[in-house]
Amino acid sequence: MYTTEKILVIGSSGQIGTELVHTLRQQYGVDNVIASDLKATTQASEGPFEVIDVMNTTVLNDVVKKHKITQVYLLAALLSATAEKMPKFGWDLNMQGLFNILDLAKEKLIQRVYWPSSIAVFGPNTPKQNTPQFTVMEPSTVYGISKQAGERWCEYYFNKYQVDVRSLRYPGLIGWQSAPGGGTTDYAVHIFHEAIKNGSYNCFLSENTTLPMMYMPDAIKATIDIMQVDAAKVKIRSSYNLSGFSFSPTEIANEIRKHIPQFSISYSPDSRQQIADSWPQSINDNEARLHWGWKPNYDLTEMTNDMMLHLKNK
Ligand code: NAD
Ligand code: SER
Repeated sequence: MYTTEKILVIGSSGQIGTELVHTLRQQYGVDNVIASDLKATTQASEGPFEVIDVMNTTVLNDVVKKHKITQVYLLAALLSATAEKMPKFGWDLNMQGLFNILDLAKEKLIQRVYWPSSIAVFGPNTPKQNTPQFTVMEPSTVYGISKQAGERWCEYYFNKYQVDVRSLRYPGLIGWQSAPGGGTTDYAVHIFHEAIKNGSYNCFLSENTTLPMMYMPDAIKATIDIMQVDAAKVKIRSSYNLSGFSFSPTEIANEIRKHIPQFSISYSPDSRQQIADSWPQSINDNEARLHWGWKPNYDLTEMTNDMMLHLKNK
């Protein structure tokens, strides 16, 4: 594909960034996608890589100018469980990092921004089933509060400064290419590694805790789709609900048993249970489907088959 885009992915060595950088490079060319994180990782040997702390505006500005960046995907953040352990730091990173990027776009140094929100914007008073796009939110975690505030600021920068910022409220994401990153939904990543390695898993959520989830290839597809669609089709500039499928620890354990019949699971709910209990169980993403044609490809069975295939080969 011929492109005039130069893309910077910040926080590129995490769960989403690892897969996003691969896919963006397939589409835009290796040299047009600059990976960046707090320190150099194996990504640095695969293509352009910069060490960037998103809190450091001097380095950020230098890199944007050096590479003539047109689009930024901002993935650097503290996830729900980690942010609860250091709330002030979580708030500072999640908010200031976003402001630093939105301000680059306001000053027209970059043309388009992607920033992920989360189902964590919803709280205990939100309808739990088929949660609509517009509803009561009232998040109860510092992570959710930072994501909801971030959504408000994205919409504000779009309305006031015409910043072309696009966002999705990801459910829990599951992929095989990288390790879990401190989220409440990350049990659903860890369970695969433990099942293959040890044949058993001790889950930090209780057996019937149903949460909205999505397989990483679908999340990457949604992310690139919303960034590539005509601006006029992006009618929501806070963040779009996005849905894949929902399951509980018992249900995913049953799927894993189709591949590893002797797999056993036990339950020791910890502080993350309270976080999970405050979130929806299923999400209505009609707006994303209607406005820019979103449709997921994977269900629980297809995801489990694919995870098993790749992790066993690994
Ligand atoms: P992750 O924790 O796996 O990766 C985050 C990356 O950001 C890490 O590589 C980390 O080193 C880097 N980082 C941290 N502080 C940084 C800083 N100051 N400067 C630059 N880089 C820094 O997270 P992820 O799962 O890839 O999530 C990425 C984004 O997607 C986050 O905003 C997260 O809130 C959001 N999200 C993720 C999920 C999920 O299930 N993984 C769900 C909803 C939303
Ligand atoms: N998967 C994320 C978390 O559990 C939700 O944004 O933190």
